[in-house]
Formats: sequence, structure tokens, C-alpha cells
Amino acid sequence: MSELNLRAEELDAADGLAPLRSRFVLDDVVYLDGNSLGALPAHVPDRLADVVRREWGELRIRSWEESGWWTAPERIGERIAPLVGAAPGQVVVGDSTSVNVFKAVVAAARMAGEDRTEILVDATTFPTDGYVAESAARLTGRTLRAVTPARVPDALGPRTAAVLLNHVDYRTGRLHDLPSLTAAIHAAGALAVWDLCHSAGALPVGLDEHGVDLAVGCTYKYLNGGPGSPAFLYVRRAAQSRFDSPLPGWNSHADPFGMSPSYDPAPGAVRGRVGTPDILSMLALEAALDVWEGVQVGAVRAKSLALTDFFLECVAEYAGDRVESVTPVAHEERGSQVSLRCEDAGEVMKKLIAAGVVGDFRPPDVLRFGFTPLYTSFADAERAARVLATVLRG
Ligand SMILES: Cc1ncc(COP(=O)(O)O)c(C=O)c1O
Repeated sequence: MSELNLRAEELDAADGLAPLRSRFVLDDVVYLDGNSLGALPAHVPDRLADVVRREWGELRIRSWEESGWWTAPERIGERIAPLVGAAPGQVVVGDSTSVNVFKAVVAAARMAGEDRTEILVDATTFPTDGYVAESAARLTGRTLRAVTPARVPDALGPRTAAVLLNHVDYRTGRLHDLPSLTAAIHAAGALAVWDLCHSAGALPVGLDEHGVDLAVGCTYKYLNGGPGSPAFLYVRRAAQSRFDSPLPGWNSHADPFGMSPSYDPAPGAVRGRVGTPDILSMLALEAALDVWEGVQVGAVRAKSLALTDFFLECVAEYAGDRVESVTPVAHEERGSQVSLRCEDAGEVMKKLIAAGVVGDFRPPDVLRFGFTPLYTSFADAERAARVLATVLRG
């Protein structure tokens, strides 16, 4: 057994989160794609079968009230809130991240006022945010400028209405400095909108602590909600009364069953709702969140950094001359993934998957490996690096 194998065994034995692994459906594959689609928590299928058979099949329409379907968006929002550092009453679940980016950016532009004519967007963003921000700018009569997060402080000015940034870069795994960027945005009198898709459930976010105005995030990555599970939207309490949704559906009405022809927005986070929630996905997510009971995000972060440190060490030892990491070494700049650049990355990833190590490929040359501390082990990290080296040697 190699020295790194032994170290992996010791690290797994000392890992306080290791018992959680048995709560997920995993096979003998090394699954390092939880930053794209989280693994299935083992109890979710039974819960979902109950929702379908009993709540839908037997109770039918009664379930909107008796099974708590109607209030699921805000109830599940309250389960996510502590994971992103939000006090109650500020998070609602529903729609996709793309749709919530639209709500957040348009609402932020409207809150900023007419004299603020420019929206800034992360130039390295996941594409959907850029497309939606462009449309939001056009609809609200603003211009859109793409800048890298590092250049945001220089780009801010009296014309800036809002800034849309990613907490963790989906391609490189770089963690951006949310506290200082938010402070700079506020100093310029603008609103900060953060996309937390790659940080929610992976590291502490501190939305309230850092004064973030609006935030959105996926639930099917580190929160394991299932394919296409609904996203979340955070609207800071102080901004809620000014949150003027561009999608004011009946679910966000103060009296939704009053069926009034005029719109009167509900108070609080409910204002972020639109139409009838997708109950099956939503309740799968709610069940999936059970695995977080008693888990501290700080412990998740500590394990995530230990896992990615260890993986980088194994890669350097086994395959150091054939790949280059594009993920920052500094802990304060690293999310919960490692991205490696190499030649023929698309082909390399296909071979890795065939050999039982599942990551993913992002064009043109990036291999992505997501580390999900609730179920990834140090032995997984060592094996992934070893198999990678074998594949790279051809
Ligand atoms: C950073 C980021 N933003 C937005 C999205 C889009 O999410 P959705 O397709 O659920 O709207 C993704 C999806 O992976 C993402 O990674």
C-alpha cells in the first residue's frame, strides 16, 4: 500500500462527517460530479413514493393544505436559510436559477433608481447569468458591462445600479471574495446580487453578515435536491418592501385566493414566488435536506478544503507533469472543486468515466472534479488521482 493510500485511510478514519456517506445511494464508482448533480439520499425514494401515492393519489386536492403543499416554497426556504447564513423570512424556493437571476437582477435595477444606468456582470460567469442579465438590462433600460470580479471595484461608479457575481467560478473553482466585493458595491451605492450555485452547501456564505441584497442558487448540486430541483431566491429583509418582481404571479399575491384583478404583493420572501410550485421536485428537495440536520457548514468547509488539498497532493505525486491545476491553491480563493487543464481533456474524461471515476469536462480543456464533503471520502480522492494518472499515461 502506498503512503498516500495509508494517509487516505487515516484521514477517513478521523473524518467526523464520514458516517453521512451511508445515507446516500453510491456504488463502487468514485463520484466527483456532485457539483453538477448531487447524489441521491437513500430515504428520498420512499418519501417521494408517499407524496405520489398518498398525498397525490389519496388526498388529491386536499394536499395543498393538509400536506402543506401550498407553503412548501417558504418552508423549504427556511431549511436552506441557515446553510447560506440567512435569518428566517428571507429565502423562498421555486423556479430555476435562471428564472431567479432574472427576478433578482430586474428587481435590483428597479430598486437602484432611474439615474443608475449600468448593470455589471461577472465576465467569467456561467452563461445563463450573462444572457439573463443582458435581457434584464434591456428591459429596464440599462446598459450591461461584463467585468471580471477582480476588476469590479474599479468599474463601480455613480451610474452602477447592480452587480451580478458568482461566488464560485463554475469552470475554475475560484472562490470570489463576497464580503469585500459586496462592501465595495455598497460603497458605490449599488446593489449586490450573488449566484451561489457552487457555494450553497459547500462553504459558509454569510448572506446576512455581509449585507448581500439578493442571491440565488441551485439546489441540485451540493444540496442534493435531485435533477432540476427548484432553485432558491434570497431577498434581504431590508429590501423586501422595495422588491418589485418582474414576474408578479398569483402565488406572490397578498391574497392569492382573492382572485383580484389587481396585484398586491405579499410581504416577505413570499413576494419572490410566481406560479404553482412543482411539488414533486420540491418535496424531493425537502426530504434531501434531512441529511443536513446537525451538520455545521463550517465542518463541511473544513473537510472540503482537506479533500481538495489531498487530491491536489495526490495529483502532483501521480500525474504532476501531465496536468495543470487552474484552481487556486490559497484556501480563501478555492471553492469545493478542482479543475485540471490537460490536452484532450474531453477524451480523458470519457476514459476516466469508463474507468469508474466520474467528473466532467468543460470546453476547451478543463477536467472538473467536485468534492462533496457529505459523501466524498479521502479514499475517493486518492483513487481518482491514481486512475487519472493511469489514463494520462495511456
Ligand atoms: C453558476 C450557475 N448559475 C446558473 C446555473 C443555471 O441553473 P439552471 O439551469 O437551474 O437555471 C448554473 C447551472 O449549472 C450554474 O452553475
